[in-house]
Amino acid sequence: MNKKLKLEPEYIIGIPGIDLQHSELLRKCNELLDCLERQTEPRDSILVQIQKIIEELRLHFDTEQILLDMIDFPGKDKQRSSHQELLGLLVRNPELFTKRSNDEIKVLISTFRDSYLVHILESDREFAIHIENLMKIKQKYNITALKAQSIIK
Ligand SMILES: [Fe+2]
Ligand SMILES: [Fe+2]
Repeated sequence: MNKKLKLEPEYIIGIPGIDLQHSELLRKCNELLDCLERQTEPRDSILVQIQKIIEELRLHFDTEQILLDMIDFPGKDKQRSSHQELLGLLVRNPELFTKRSNDEIKVLISTFRDSYLVHILESDREFAIHIENLMKIKQKYNITALKAQSIIK
């Protein structure tokens, strides 16, 4: 059984919609890793699970990038390239999953999962703190989010 079943508190960034996407993706990765470990799941089902993870990851990155564009987050380009790198681990070579052994896929998925968790901890938390500060300024001075944004920049 895989140990990392759910998001540990330090990975919660405090934006409920984003946290939910993070934990859903982690859950799917862990489920897939468990299937690969049990060696009982048919290859087709493994491939469907991988496809779902990729779709969900794209949706998640789109969500974050729209949010970061909206607030004009100073680190948005860094986020975007980090997202490309993470996605690249799974989509760079489409034949990877059809031709590799279950053990090799397991290594790739757990590498992806660990990099994804590091990204949450190091990059996503950064924009969450930025948004939190934005909201504090907005509330304190009773100004629009846009005005608060220009102050915080
Ligand atoms: Fe994220
Ligand atoms: Fe991100």
